[in-house]
Amino acid sequence: MKDILTAPFVEEMKRTTANMYRLGWDERNGGNISMLLDEAQVAEYLDLNKVIRTIPTGFKADMLIGKIFIVTGTGKYFKNVEFDPANNLGIIRIAADGTTAELLWGYSDGGRFTSELPAHLMSHMARLKVNPENRVILHCHPTYTLAMNYVHELDEKKFTHTLWETCTECMVVFPDGVGVLPWMLCGTNEIGEATAKKMEEFRLVVWGLHGLYGAGKDIDEAFGLVETVEKAAQLYMISAHLPRINTITDDQLREIAEGFGVKYREDFLN
Ligand code: 13P
Ligand code: ZN
Repeated sequence: MKDILTAPFVEEMKRTTANMYRLGWDERNGGNISMLLDEAQVAEYLDLNKVIRTIPTGFKADMLIGKIFIVTGTGKYFKNVEFDPANNLGIIRIAADGTTAELLWGYSDGGRFTSELPAHLMSHMARLKVNPENRVILHCHPTYTLAMNYVHELDEKKFTHTLWETCTECMVVFPDGVGVLPWMLCGTNEIGEATAKKMEEFRLVVWGLHGLYGAGKDIDEAFGLVETVEKAAQLYMISAHLPRINTITDDQLREIAEGFGVKYREDFLN
């Protein structure tokens, strides 16, 4: 059996959490990541018959029975993951009852998965229905996106439009737009259900006055989506109070979409 600490998916979680921490997206224990793993690949590193302990999830995830995820731990700091992955990360499998997580590795101090597991697993289910290739759900508190939440209407058409017109790349990277939820109590099944509902339409979901979710077939896609929103939000926040002389027009946004051959939310243009 190979050493789990050398597994590419553990390496990738280490690299990504460190990156996100240094970008300032994940203060203290802020943020969480879950990545669906390939069972055969995990079996190279772990005995899949050995369950360390079971942890109830508090909701049913029938579609994910038998599926294995690597998930950041609750209360754990992203800045520490690279130095102690076995404590800050866990590998769980959804048990046959659909409501229990079987711990296969990690959370070595007796900890458990992120408090946002409902939003993660429910979003995985929603995205897998749209795209069977989806593997990653990622949540963080990117500074400028969050700042924008306080000064911009929390309306998904208007929010998306502002991001699109702020940065040429946005229409190419997220032509499907950004879903927006109002402020809700985090860590609950309710916010999980609301997030998953948005994930049927969007790969990006703003949690009003809290943070951002991104989904993708791999970390690069989910991370790249968040990164592009955050870049546009930064441009917005450093320029919104200044007189605006130039902007990307709706006709130009259409031209970008046509030029890059992307299917976009036409109803989000004026
Ligand atoms: P966890 O520490 O439980 O992952 O929570 C962090 C967070 O960002 C809550 O939304
Ligand atoms: Zn959060």
